[in-house]
Amino acid sequence: MRHENIKGRRSVFFLILLSITLCSTSPRAGTYLKSAHGNSTIGVNRTSAGFPTDYATGNCAHCHEQHSSIQGAEPVPTGGPNNFLLFDENYTSQTINFCFDCHQANGYQTGGITINKSYSYNFGGNTNSSSYDSNIKDAFSHIGTTGSSHYLPSFVSQVLGKTMYDADGVAWSLPANINPCDACHNPHLAQRNKNTTYDPTKSAISRPSDHNNLWGDNTTERMSADFSDYQAPYWYGSNTSYEPANDATTTGSNLPNYVRLCTDCHNEYNTIYSENPRLPGGPRNIRKICWKTTYVSVVPDAHGAYAGSSAYPRDPYNPPYSPHTLCCTDCHEPHGSATNIYLIRSSINGVSISVPDTTDTSWRNFCLNACHTRPEHDPYKPGCSNCHYHGGGRGGF
Ligand code: HEC
Ligand code: HEC
Ligand code: HEC
Ligand code: HEC
Ligand code: HEC
Ligand code: HEC
Repeated sequence: MRHENIKGRRSVFFLILLSITLCSTSPRAGTYLKSAHGNSTIGVNRTSAGFPTDYATGNCAHCHEQHSSIQGAEPVPTGGPNNFLLFDENYTSQTINFCFDCHQANGYQTGGITINKSYSYNFGGNTNSSSYDSNIKDAFSHIGTTGSSHYLPSFVSQVLGKTMYDADGVAWSLPANINPCDACHNPHLAQRNKNTTYDPTKSAISRPSDHNNLWGDNTTERMSADFSDYQAPYWYGSNTSYEPANDATTTGSNLPNYVRLCTDCHNEYNTIYSENPRLPGGPRNIRKICWKTTYVSVVPDAHGAYAGSSAYPRDPYNPPYSPHTLCCTDCHEPHGSATNIYLIRSSINGVSISVPDTTDTSWRNFCLNACHTRPEHDPYKPGCSNCHYHGGGRGGF
């Protein structure tokens, strides 16, 4: 009892101090307790040499340290005090990041984190070995010769602290010094939406233009709300069951509107210079994207709301000639792809895909295995990537 009291008092004292010291919008207790990090069972629970064992699971102190010392000694990792009173440097490089202190194979989280696999695995059902990353750090580590990852140094140089525009042309901005992961996540809100089953009322993401809210947890924030012609792709290896929940839902009523998340950055307004070492032809400005019905300054994609109809579609994109708006995550991994360039998923529409490079063999594999039985033109027309890319024009993409 007495021990409990001391622990409780210390936590409250710590919380107040933390909020005062950080002197900003402090996380609201209710939403934090519903978050994955704040959860008293599955939440943050750091083990490191010198860190007291009596902080309850979910306590802020597992991420924030009031002083560099706790009870007279400084827990590992030493150094600091760090930005935002975090126990380690918030952001250093593509592969050294505060979040990776736990979201990796051997982090400080007691017992580790076992469920953070790739999108194609969690929400697409592709469990083939070496087709997916088993943790978040691995997903961001494809900067060498294979696969690809979203490149965080370019998030820092191109997005954080800048005036950006969403797909409607409305300006937004995020502070320059936050963690680049938090362009899409809010560590005080993010929830676990997938464990053994999928729960669409929980969300792990926040739009960069609306950092203090979750995105996708309400029905108005799902694909079906904006795109009545959305068709969910098949679950891996199935022709009766669909993404993201491996059930019969096909309308996207259970899928966060990732188009809205991604097009906060990737639209016709923002110019983004990528220094990603894996970007073909990089470093360069990445292509602007228009997922709309009308031309603004970039040609609308036929895979977007312009929704060109496909002459030779594969199931379930039937009947022929019916238009469908696709979701970005139908083709792309949000973090990284273990095998493919351009963050292209290891499996699309229920089948494995191999796009290690920009050769015609890769594009034929991608277009013709997953979704089309053939093009209208000569199927061997050379130089696919010269014509088929975002913004490439009607018929182009
Ligand atoms: C002290 C360890 C720790 C740190 C540091 C940490 N996390 Fe987590 N994170 C966890 C744990 C534990 C969970 C819950 C895991 C689970 O659901 O089984 C979690 C869950 C999440 C989730 C929700 C999805 C899920 O798997 O439940 C997101 C999103 C997330 N973390 C992002 C981040 C980001 C971004 C950072 C850095 C700003 C970060 N985390 C730093 C331990 C940590
Ligand atoms: C461009 C946006 C974006 C960035 C940047 C980003 N994420 Fe994510 N993250 C997503 C999306 C989208 C999902 C998957 C969909 C979902 O769970 O709703 C996701 C899922 C997750 C999950 C849950 C995975 C699971 O088990 O389902 C964790 C944990 C996570 N991200 C951590 C991180 C960390 C750590 C970083 C930085 C190193 C990061 N994210 C950067 C968009 C992003
Ligand atoms: C907060 C802004 C932001 C959001 C949101 C965002 N991105 Fe990006 N994206 C970037 C930046 C910055 C780059 C340039 C660095 C790089 O190439 O990774 C980029 C690059 C890319 C690339 C090119 C990668 C390569 O080969 O170099 C792809 C593909 C991509 N994003 C897809 C997505 C998808 C899909 C989503 C939604 C799940 C998304 N992005 C959401 C900022 C964002
Ligand atoms: C998973 C790790 C994690 C946990 C747990 C956590 N925070 Fe944070 N907090 C961060 C990070 C990372 C930042 C720095 C901002 C960023 O990079 O997004 C931050 C920033 C803050 C800020 C500065 C304002 C802001 O939101 O940017 C305050 C205040 C704060 N945290 C208070 C708390 C309190 C109080 C708790 C417990 C109720 C808590 N944090 C739990 C990771 C965490
Ligand atoms: C039908 C599959 C498909 C869908 C759906 C899709 N993409 Fe792509 N994406 C690709 C392919 C293939 C490439 C490589 C060719 C290119 O660069 O356009 C690519 C490349 C990219 C690039 C890098 C562009 C560059 O400069 O090379 C970005 C950024 C991107 N996609 C973002 C998105 C976003 C955001 C969405 C949703 C609005 C989306 N994609 C939807 C297949 C897709
Ligand atoms: C010179 C430009 C060009 C090249 C090179 C090219 N395409 Fe096309 N492709 C088009 C145009 C334009 C259309 C739409 C009109 C048509 O089908 O003739 C199209 C249509 C398609 C479609 C069908 C879309 C539907 O309506 O179902 C597929 C699939 C396709 N191409 C794949 C490929 C592949 C794979 C390659 C490389 C082997 C390739 N294309 C090379 C310009 C090109």
